[in-house]
Amino acid sequence: MTYLLGDGDEISPKYVGPRRLMEVAVATLATDRALLLLGVPGTAKTWVSEHLAAAISGDSTLLVQGTAGTAEEAIRYGWNYARLLAEGPSRAALVPSPVMRAMADGRIARVEELTRVPSDVQDTLITILSEKTLPIPELSDEVQATKGFNIIATANDRDRGVNELSSALRRRFNTVVLPVPATADEEVEIVTRRVASLGRSLELPEMPAAVDEIRRVVTIFRELRGGLTEDGRTKLKSPSGTLSTAEAISVVTNGMVLATHFGDGELRADDVAAGIHGAVVKDPAADPAIWLEYLETVVRERDGWRDFYRAARDAG
Ligand SMILES: Nc1ncnc2c1ncn2[C@@H]1O[C@H](COP(=O)(O)OP(=O)(O)OP(=O)(O)O)[C@@H](O)[C@H]1O
Ligand SMILES: [Mg+2]
Repeated sequence: MTYLLGDGDEISPKYVGPRRLMEVAVATLATDRALLLLGVPGTAKTWVSEHLAAAISGDSTLLVQGTAGTAEEAIRYGWNYARLLAEGPSRAALVPSPVMRAMADGRIARVEELTRVPSDVQDTLITILSEKTLPIPELSDEVQATKGFNIIATANDRDRGVNELSSALRRRFNTVVLPVPATADEEVEIVTRRVASLGRSLELPEMPAAVDEIRRVVTIFRELRGGLTEDGRTKLKSPSGTLSTAEAISVVTNGMVLATHFGDGELRADDVAAGIHGAVVKDPAADPAIWLEYLETVVRERDGWRDFYRAARDAG
């Protein structure tokens, strides 16, 4: 928990949000049920799953990336065909999946985007989670899960219905829904932290005045996402994109790269305007009108936003 939420001193928080959710997540992993992190895109599902696995078993790399093409072998095991043909089925010819390795070593395995995996493949997880064994019928053998084994899966709210989890599988998971940040201040904190750390890894110079620009990006994202201005007075149409915190982070990071390499080293309205336009306008038919209406009715009138209004009009 300290690694995940920080200690307010030396250890920086990785997740910013309700402490209780992380307590439930950690407690779940201590039981025989697996953990499903659910939420709209960009709510740190992957991020939290990675950090939980790293904190608990010192390894976040036992990962199955779920796609429509994920096959049973990715969750159970495959074969080294050259060896299989030469020597017949043996343990040496077997290629374990990340899940199988996690079972053997007593670690956390991760399954990303579980609902994109075809239903019959999803169901291979049922035996693993309920019996804690992985049968290998070809060798009349099985792998037993060692203490410490568990699974963290993530799934996206927007994919709901793609391959909805069967109720048998759902019962083996405890679901924790990760929310979008509750307040603008919280979201500004998340973006500021992540941008600072991304900036360091991109070797960007410090940009002290960036916080005003970050607040503006977060305000725009929150207003369009919620369909209402901050003061609660004007109703807005929401564009088709999700406008997640993750996208706010990349808009600001992109802006900082522009400011460093092509600007005067300070993050300015025109450095973020192009990125925001790209984040908002995802559907070329409906979104441009929504964005233009927002610019004309909200941005244009707002005190101190003249520079952004002009930059956004140019970017569009
Ligand atoms: N509450 C939060 N605390 C800390 N970081 C956050 C938070 N919300 C979002 N982020 C940041 O957003 C970025 C993207 O998060 P992540 O990729 O985990 O999203 P996701 O929920 O897995 O999205 P997707 O559904 O698209 O896979 C990460 O860099 C993460 O640091
Ligand atoms: Mg993810």
